[in-house]
Amino acid sequence: MAKKVVNVGLLGCGFMGKAHSFGYRNVNEMWNPPVKVVMKCISGTEPKRIVKATAKALGWQEYETDWRRLIERDDIDLIDISTPNFVHEEQALAAAKAGKAILCEKPLANSLTSAKIMVKAIQKARVKAMCGFTYRQAPAVQLAKQMIEAGELGEIYHFRAVYLQDWIMDPDFPLVWRLQKPLAGSGALGDLGAHIADMALYLVGNISEVSGDLKTFIKQRPVQTTLAERGKERAVGGRAAKKGRVTVDDAAYWCARFTNGVVGTFEATRFAGGRKNFHSWQINGSKASIGWTFEDMNYLEYWKAGGGSKQGFRKVLATHPETPNWQAWWPDGHIIGYGECFVNEVKEMLTAIAENRQPVPSFRDGLKCQAVLDAVARSAKTRKWTRVPKV
Ligand SMILES: NC(=O)c1ccc[n+]([C@@H]2O[C@H](COP(=O)([O-])OP(=O)(O)OC[C@H]3O[C@@H](n4cnc5c(N)ncnc54)[C@H](O)[C@@H]3O)[C@@H](O)[C@H]2O)c1
Repeated sequence: MAKKVVNVGLLGCGFMGKAHSFGYRNVNEMWNPPVKVVMKCISGTEPKRIVKATAKALGWQEYETDWRRLIERDDIDLIDISTPNFVHEEQALAAAKAGKAILCEKPLANSLTSAKIMVKAIQKARVKAMCGFTYRQAPAVQLAKQMIEAGELGEIYHFRAVYLQDWIMDPDFPLVWRLQKPLAGSGALGDLGAHIADMALYLVGNISEVSGDLKTFIKQRPVQTTLAERGKERAVGGRAAKKGRVTVDDAAYWCARFTNGVVGTFEATRFAGGRKNFHSWQINGSKASIGWTFEDMNYLEYWKAGGGSKQGFRKVLATHPETPNWQAWWPDGHIIGYGECFVNEVKEMLTAIAENRQPVPSFRDGLKCQAVLDAVARSAKTRKWTRVPKV
């Protein structure tokens, strides 16, 4: 019998549009999922010729320049939201209303209120909805989860995570959407902090309280201008004349208490000179410690108590055929990278559709993460330990 087909409509022609396309392009061949994905249509707000060229380059059959029209199409089953944070709610609500399954990028929304509205909408519409915490999909992270669930770490004491980048340290870097609160919700907090908060919630458990701080180092930046205006700027010395206010954090850091007694520290910054995408965490338990760093993502660091004179961390290569999320890939030791995490993510979305269950991570996981981010932002304002609301 022919497999059920899932026609995808992807919103967004940027970084994530390309990354998600990689996922859809490779999932049928690599994972042979229970339903077959078809890359039906992509939309973007770029000029028509760019959207058309992007569709062709990334392997989409058709393109639309209006995302609303794409969501309304009867021949689309799954809407992929790979757009700036401020449109996630509007697009997810429209997709839910149209009865489509949804894969939405993180952070789920610009605010906790908005994330709650989105979860209600998908519950009411009874559609499957995933939040794109892609790093969960790395086999080494899945192995960590398996080890924790099997009790191999014993009692967990510490969770410690950093997510460090440096791409906006130049004061002439323009005021892109990620640096504007109405468009991004927050800065490093929602962009990078969301990933490490989710990792903590996934691996360790719920967070009850946080004490956090936010910092903006560069408060004014060149406003992005039209091509014609940029020509004029070059004529007056190569710098954009007009500056606008940065309304998000450049760095966020916080301490956390988990409901199960674990304590945690988190740091997310776009000002860690030399660090490009340094996403790293460690967990210390009574029987063992583990650690993972995305830039070396095929390995899990592992220390086990009782090594005697041969104590110390060892690097576990998470490419064993039994490692979760590895099976479809290559022979042991033939490592994978960033793109493959998106293939694994799409595989989970398709499997959830076939099995009639919510994907993992779900919109509710996105909401739980948003509750942590919201509490960190409130704590930074009041300079007090702040409860994370139950959601
Ligand atoms: N999972 C991850 O690891 C990861 C990594 C990067 C970004 N993200 C998330 O993915 C989302 C998109 O980020 P990106 O880096 O692809 O951004 P981007 O700026 O590269 O691309 C965004 C795209 O969205 C579309 N768009 C722009 N403005 C729009 C509007 N007003 N209405 C509708 N569509 C619009 C455009 O086609 C644009 O190309 C964000 O939510 C971001 O936080 C996730």
